[in-house]
Amino acid sequence: MKNSNFSNKIFSGYNQNSLPNIDELLAKTNPGTPGGEYLRRYWHPVALTSEISETPKEIRILGEDLVVFLTSKKEIGLVHKACPHRRASLAFGKTEDRGIRCCYHGWLFSTTGEILETPGEDPNSTQAQNLKKKFRLGAYPVIEFNGLVFSYLGPMDKIPEFPNYDAFQIPGNTTRPYRIEYNCNWIQVLDAIMDPVHTSFLHGQSSGIQFSKGFAEVGEIDFFERGIQYLGSNTRRINDNIWVRVNELILPNFTQAGAAFAADGTKTRYFGRSSFTRWVVPVDDHHCLALAWANFGDRGDPIEYNNKEGCERIESGEIMDRTFEEKQKSPGDAEAVEGMGYITAHKGEHLMPTDQGIMIYRRRIRKLIKSLQEGKEPPQPQKKKGEVVKTNGQDTILRIPKRNINDRKFIKSIGNAVMKMQFELDDMLIENRDDQIIKNLLKMEKSGNFKDL
Ligand code: FES
Ligand SMILES: [Fe+2]
Repeated sequence: MKNSNFSNKIFSGYNQNSLPNIDELLAKTNPGTPGGEYLRRYWHPVALTSEISETPKEIRILGEDLVVFLTSKKEIGLVHKACPHRRASLAFGKTEDRGIRCCYHGWLFSTTGEILETPGEDPNSTQAQNLKKKFRLGAYPVIEFNGLVFSYLGPMDKIPEFPNYDAFQIPGNTTRPYRIEYNCNWIQVLDAIMDPVHTSFLHGQSSGIQFSKGFAEVGEIDFFERGIQYLGSNTRRINDNIWVRVNELILPNFTQAGAAFAADGTKTRYFGRSSFTRWVVPVDDHHCLALAWANFGDRGDPIEYNNKEGCERIESGEIMDRTFEEKQKSPGDAEAVEGMGYITAHKGEHLMPTDQGIMIYRRRIRKLIKSLQEGKEPPQPQKKKGEVVKTNGQDTILRIPKRNINDRKFIKSIGNAVMKMQFELDDMLIENRDDQIIKNLLKMEKSGNFKDL
């Protein structure tokens, strides 16, 4: 082998061989952690309705081992897995009319955690009576909604209203609940939604075309911070059209984007909505779940993707069950985020202007966590009781041919005008807002007058 002279070359491996630190505040969500306390102020989906039956199912959420089950009266229970008697797993419990019975010594618990029976003990003993009065199995409230089961794992005196997003009621949409597991920390998965540039590279170039063709085009990126709603828009020129695609995060973990397959920039589209309505939920520090509805219909993705594989491709660009070699050939989101390791070394990142969305939302979460430590409760998505939360994740494709001006500046201004118009209609009633946005977009396209932009 040829001898090489390395003395005048710079290799810096040795100088960089120690692993940078992780951002503990953001990444750790187990009970007792500041981040875990923050997340325990919100409703989160914890399972699919279809996964719940009279056979108890073990789940782990925010580092807590839980069991979810259906009583024979069809009431859902979500309780700590360990029986408070001698900690046998309630995953082996038997469900009944009134709750779940531990397999070991037959104690019976209601869905609210009340100890109803301790059959091996003398029912008249003071000890048994006192225990029933004073102690309960840890249990959490649940709400089943449209195929997802939500729970609130925080202190009961702080329980918020279950939020009502406009995305819950888009006319004509067919929804399919799905669950995708990731072997990495929740922040890694959440970051991708505030990273509109990765769609051009990961989903449009590195792995070929994973979504529609226009994704490969790198557009003009802008970020918007509105209370706890964060938006990243990517505005692309596709021939005579301008395509505005908007990714959305509402803290702490509600996410939407544009369509995965229905929009490619070549056909006009007016306020098409997200391919998914999704939450990223920590399982523990090394795992998380995307629990979501995939949305199909005229303003969602094509109905032929309404199956398990379709949901996986909408979620990650690829199906999940593949060999390592297949994943190397065509990595999707799962490979990009899991490849960083269970918890990425945040302090070793070099964040750039296109990572601004990530910087601003992480900064805000850190701030909210610290405020909560000082006793200030974090804001909910709904500003007032009963309010429908307006969302802005979408695709709009307008026919606006090039003009005799700098096109990148021009498409950026169109992107901004579309966002501004959406925001201005935020207070409109849910029944009217989408129609008005669509009307305004059509008007904007037809007028050809963009000099105010
Ligand atoms: S361990 Fe559950 S009843 Fe004894
Ligand atoms: Fe992605």
